[in-house]
Amino acid sequence: MASSLSATICGSGFQPQFAPGTALPQLVAVCLVVMLAGCSTAGKPGGTSLPDMDSAAAQTFVSRCSACHAVPHPGRHSYQGWLYLVPVMEQRMAERGMLPLTTEDREIILVYLQENAR
Ligand code: HEC
Repeated sequence: MASSLSATICGSGFQPQFAPGTALPQLVAVCLVVMLAGCSTAGKPGGTSLPDMDSAAAQTFVSRCSACHAVPHPGRHSYQGWLYLVPVMEQRMAERGMLPLTTEDREIILVYLQENAR
């Protein structure tokens, strides 16, 4: 039962032998590291490899979207996804008393995201 669960997590029919409570956390940790590594092929750590990094639009995007977390890569979401997410982020800014996006900033950021979304 437990080993079939682990096989599902890791895929590919791997059948681990483990003493309950000892090896399982390690196994889960290894699986997580593998999964996270698989997710991070777009963009280097530090998030400096954005499309058109020198453009004014990219600068606006970086300056408004990196205050609370690393700036996300535009290819991380579809344009539809960004249309949903940017207002959520504006809400987070309001919650923290940050200056809201101006109409112009929002326009620049959304056009930049649209051009570079997946
Ligand atoms: C005021 C702080 C703040 C600012 C500024 C901010 N964010 Fe976020 N962001 C958050 C928080 C908090 C989360 C965690 C998820 C949540 O609470 O909604 C998050 C999560 C995210 C995520 C991950 C969620 C997902 O579904 O992938 C993305 C992408 C993102 N933000 C993009 C942006 C963009 C684009 C901007 C600029 C328009 C931005 N953020 C500006 C606070 C902020």
